[in-house]
Amino acid sequence: MLIKSQDKTEPKSYEITPETRYWSRRDWLKSVGIMGAGLAALNAAPSFALAQDPNWQAMLLDKLSNRSKWPHSTKETPTPYKDVVTYNNFYEFGTGKDDPVKNSQDFRVDPWRVKVEGEVGKPGNYTLEDIFRPHALEDRIYRFRCVEAWSMVVPWVGFPLADLLKRFEPTSKAKYVRFETLVDPDRFPAQRFGRSTIPWPYVEGLRMDEAMHPLTLMVVGVYGKALLPQSGAPLRLMVPWKYGFKSIKSIVKIQFVEKEPKSTWQQLASQEYGFFANVNPEVDHPRWSQKRERRLPNSIWDPNWMPTQKFNGYEEQVAPLYAGMNLRTNY
Ligand code: MTE
Repeated sequence: MLIKSQDKTEPKSYEITPETRYWSRRDWLKSVGIMGAGLAALNAAPSFALAQDPNWQAMLLDKLSNRSKWPHSTKETPTPYKDVVTYNNFYEFGTGKDDPVKNSQDFRVDPWRVKVEGEVGKPGNYTLEDIFRPHALEDRIYRFRCVEAWSMVVPWVGFPLADLLKRFEPTSKAKYVRFETLVDPDRFPAQRFGRSTIPWPYVEGLRMDEAMHPLTLMVVGVYGKALLPQSGAPLRLMVPWKYGFKSIKSIVKIQFVEKEPKSTWQQLASQEYGFFANVNPEVDHPRWSQKRERRLPNSIWDPNWMPTQKFNGYEEQVAPLYAGMNLRTNY
């Protein structure tokens, strides 16, 4: 991206404490029978989660244990969990690949609301329970290609974004969906005064047909577990045919709009990062080639280069969305 960070090909073996803590506390809550109980009971528990919406955690745990397998997952070998949760881009925690895991140790999800507004019949300030309630979860193994030319294969857990968006009853004027990440310097250290590197909030957008495409996933977990903060807890997008920066993390706002929204990376360098950001080996980034990618895990001795596929290998499913469009100018 714009800000160069040291390329650490071999992720450090940080102890993955947040995940352990996240789940051990939940398991503990469950085992002592107070999962889903009221504020008082949760306040008496170890203080991982504030308990403004205690039930979303129980609901998510239950849905995770009842998830199903999506039949169309890639057969490629998944990138190990350790790499998925230690090699991250999440500028709210810092620009280095290991900043998100290091700086998210104290991140708290609660309180969390998702504001839905714009061209919709059902605007509102929704809790995570509201968001999760009707959706069954699926394991979907997708290829994931960053614009920086590294890639992974990740077993995400989520549900189709379309199923969520339809619940808000978009009007005929809703041509695009715009998303925002939380702004809270108490929770995101890089948003604190003097430490900002990019304008906040992080913003992304999709055309309505892209948002409604069956491959577009609202992600709540990875490798069968709830998302860790560095991966975008409690909910993030995954648009597998687009460069990774479209997959906005830790979403707090969903706006249905008439005009194409400007994403954060477009605001910063529109000549380098376009609105569509479809993975395309035929269109180079102005500063590097997009013809190949380094599949993680790798090392300097074995960079594990492989050819990049058009639409990241999802051409058959998504090419009709762009029929007649010049993909060189609409990058
Ligand atoms: N979302 C927010 N809010 N902030 C970010 O910095 N980085 C993006 C995307 N979503 C980013 C974000 C980029 S550049 C990439 S490649 C992916 O998240 C990285 O996802 P991962 O860390 O789970 O691999």
